[in-house]
Amino acid sequence: MTRTSVVTGAASGIGLTTTKLLESRGERVIGVDLHDADVVADLTTERGRTDMVERVRELSGGTLDALYAVAGLALPIPATVAVNYFGMVATLVGLRPLLLGSPAPRAVGVASMASLFPVDDELVANLTAGDEPAALARAEILAKEPETTGGLIYGSTKKAFAQWVRRAAATADWAGASIPLNAVAPGVIATPMTAGLMATDEARAALLRQVPMPLNGVAEPIVVARLLAWLGGVENTHLCGQVVFVDGGSDVVIRGDSTW
Ligand SMILES: NC(=O)c1ccc[n+]([C@@H]2O[C@H](COP(=O)([O-])OP(=O)(O)OC[C@H]3O[C@@H](n4cnc5c(N)ncnc54)[C@H](O)[C@@H]3O)[C@@H](O)[C@H]2O)c1
Repeated sequence: MTRTSVVTGAASGIGLTTTKLLESRGERVIGVDLHDADVVADLTTERGRTDMVERVRELSGGTLDALYAVAGLALPIPATVAVNYFGMVATLVGLRPLLLGSPAPRAVGVASMASLFPVDDELVANLTAGDEPAALARAEILAKEPETTGGLIYGSTKKAFAQWVRRAAATADWAGASIPLNAVAPGVIATPMTAGLMATDEARAALLRQVPMPLNGVAEPIVVARLLAWLGGVENTHLCGQVVFVDGGSDVVIRGDSTW
């Protein structure tokens, strides 16, 4: 049977590459994005999220085999909070019922190694509480200083999302429904998101000092797409709530023995 998946962020970068990879394997993908997608939806808004679920339900005929929540922003602005955390969780929770008719349902989202950087504890707490107005208000304050506190927004969203995956994965909704729920945490991937950060050799070197990648350096999006496709594929039967770092080694360099 042809597997049918949803990929958010399907118009660019990791989402686009994942879409092409799955399609090259004969799978059907329903792409979601702000533009150039089967379902055009803005995942920063409640309306956009609800419309996305309805449209995907119609296009899929009511059953999906895998969810790939990829869409995200890396800007020091409140919208990053809305799409990276609330948009991603709404995608996974909103579309989860469509997985229940699949013989091999899977779900995976994209976190980041940036979750290892300093975060804003208040923002993470707001996200964890699921309080979007409070999280947006906190992000407004952080965004006032884009070079300092604004830089905490992205990592905070990714840490809270990774923790959400770990908390949700073993519950009745996910593990109890035989749905492996996991995340990937990429290092620096060469996509439009990072192009500006690597525009010069100096900028690229500075980025890699911040994100050390001793194993093969900056990765192409296909590296992440292959891992996503495995996590969302039939071979993955027992990974539960794992945040898999695909980061050329930044996690082991930064965290060392503090995790195992
Ligand atoms: N590129 C990296 O180095 C890197 C590293 C770690 C994690 N990530 C994560 O990987 C994911 C994909 O990033 P990418 O590098 O492919 O970036 P990208 O900018 O190439 O693609 C992101 C896509 O998400 C879509 N998107 C943004 N806001 C949206 C919204 N409100 N509603 C719907 N779609 C929206 C964009 O239109 C775009 O097509 C993101 O979650 C990002 O945080 C990227």
